[in-house]
Amino acid sequence: MKDPAALRILHQGRYHAAAQIQTQIFAAPGRVNLIGEHTDYAEGFVMPAAIDFATLAAISPRTDGQIVLYAENFAEERSYPAGSLPAAATGHWSDYPLGVLTILSGAGYQIPPLSLSLWGDVPLGSGLSSSAAVEVATATAVLGLLGAEIPGPQLARLCQRAENEFVRANCGIMDQFISANGKENHALLLDCRDLSFRLAPIPQNVALVIANTMVKHSVAGAGYTTRRAEVEEACAILATHRPEIKFLRDATPADLAAWGHEIPPNSLKRARHVITENLRTVAAADALLRNDLAELGRLMHEAHISYSQDFEGSCPEADTMVNLAQDLPGLIGARLTGGGFGGCTINLVEKQHAPTFAAALKERYRQSTGIHPEIHICHASAGAHPIL
Ligand code: GLA
Repeated sequence: MKDPAALRILHQGRYHAAAQIQTQIFAAPGRVNLIGEHTDYAEGFVMPAAIDFATLAAISPRTDGQIVLYAENFAEERSYPAGSLPAAATGHWSDYPLGVLTILSGAGYQIPPLSLSLWGDVPLGSGLSSSAAVEVATATAVLGLLGAEIPGPQLARLCQRAENEFVRANCGIMDQFISANGKENHALLLDCRDLSFRLAPIPQNVALVIANTMVKHSVAGAGYTTRRAEVEEACAILATHRPEIKFLRDATPADLAAWGHEIPPNSLKRARHVITENLRTVAAADALLRNDLAELGRLMHEAHISYSQDFEGSCPEADTMVNLAQDLPGLIGARLTGGGFGGCTINLVEKQHAPTFAAALKERYRQSTGIHPEIHICHASAGAHPIL
């Protein structure tokens, strides 16, 4: 089904057996984050890249007043009168497209009766942003149907709102942003305060090797929510001394040295991670831009230690996956990527070594944990786009 032409045939077959109505197809990718974890909601810096896994959306107008959503992955359809979409999430896959329709409608876009078929290969619950891919694919498809355009950064913000306000998962902006704005063969350094960004080319000889620990990740989980609350608690305490600290983005290691003793121990550790991670992320983008891969790898390694020890956002399996990669030929840098408590590690690997690296890591991980991991050799791909 990776083939958009197959989705077009499926959609036409379901909804337009006889009619000559045109189906449009759009794609929106998942992402991997090279560095900058749990910094987005602190208005800091992140450096993700879009990946080869994506959600495809086929869309066409209807004449019967219905909004019909179909997910090929679940072989399931939901249908609603266009004027009365459900007001709240139900914990179902349809929450994501419905959230986008609701937010777009609240932003003044009249949603017409339509059929939307979704298919995706972003592994679910792996920390590779399958939900953002569904949201951005839905938004791009609906706008395509309406013949409307929204600049990528704004589109990302609307999709983030769908997840925050409708799905009620308290994520930051990173995933939707990179899914909407990624560029082939580039990582993107994003300033989550003003959504300005810089693209950094990923050298031709570098592969993104994504290793799935097979431990499920979820931003709706308790871990993500607790950590975010701890980050905000630390920020509020620092702000009593320096009111210009609105988010941890505004705080420095010197602030922690001066007032850290007032912050409860766990929140202090989370703050130390976020504050140092922001510095590392900007430094990592500079290193990538000047092709200093050794420095980039060193920063990724430091970032993993900080994520695991200070943020306590890793899990034994992810630490194992990172450790097992260290002495394999071709490794530039490895760390746990995404929201944490499971999911995938990202390994930057010299391309010529990528296949043997992936095979060796798979075998080592299987031997040491008994779990069969999925390992993918990816490249940085384009953000959301129509497929002609
Ligand atoms: C999840 C969230 C993002 C970000 C990361 C952690 O992917 O959706 O907004 O907070 O976790 O960096």
